[in-house]
Amino acid sequence: MYEFKDYYQNTVQLSFEDQPFSDSPKHVWVICRYGDRWLLTEHEDRGYEFPGGKVEPMERAEEAAVREVKEETGASVKKLHYVGQYKVLGKEKVIVKNIYFADIEKLEKQTSYFETKGPVLFSELPEHLPRNKKFSFIMKDSVLPISLKKLREDGFID
Ligand code: GTP
Repeated sequence: MYEFKDYYQNTVQLSFEDQPFSDSPKHVWVICRYGDRWLLTEHEDRGYEFPGGKVEPMERAEEAAVREVKEETGASVKKLHYVGQYKVLGKEKVIVKNIYFADIEKLEKQTSYFETKGPVLFSELPEHLPRNKKFSFIMKDSVLPISLKKLREDGFID
């Protein structure tokens, strides 16, 4: 288990075990790969981030992951892999979020993108994300680099 502070100094616990903090997480986050590029969304307030959001009542976390990717980017998921789970000990509440890796098969233009400005593609993610004002705070703690390292070790990415 990893433990660190997020951008707002909240404690985050991260693990690659099978849903160690909750078997019914209320949040999902999806690291998306479209061919040889990263697929992110531009959130209206937070900026660039991998898509994700809340699991709706009666929905499974995997279903929420596929739905959020579609709503926020217009992309269809070809294959979804569970990566891990993290817990944020926030000032007001504690949230548990599943991390997935998605292989994207197609990107279709949508008429609206649910609180985001739609898809953004990157060949490389910029370095020094914590200092980059265009990126969302959820891209600025150790969840992203530790998850990318795990995906590299498991052979999902180069
Ligand atoms: P509602 O008011 O219930 O709609 O939710 P909210 O707008 O308060 O946000 P949400 O429930 O999504 O998240 C609550 C808090 O958890 C946020 O204010 C963040 O501080 C934190 N949080 C949510 N997602 C993440 C994340 O991916 N990473 C980090 N570090 N914190 C997160």
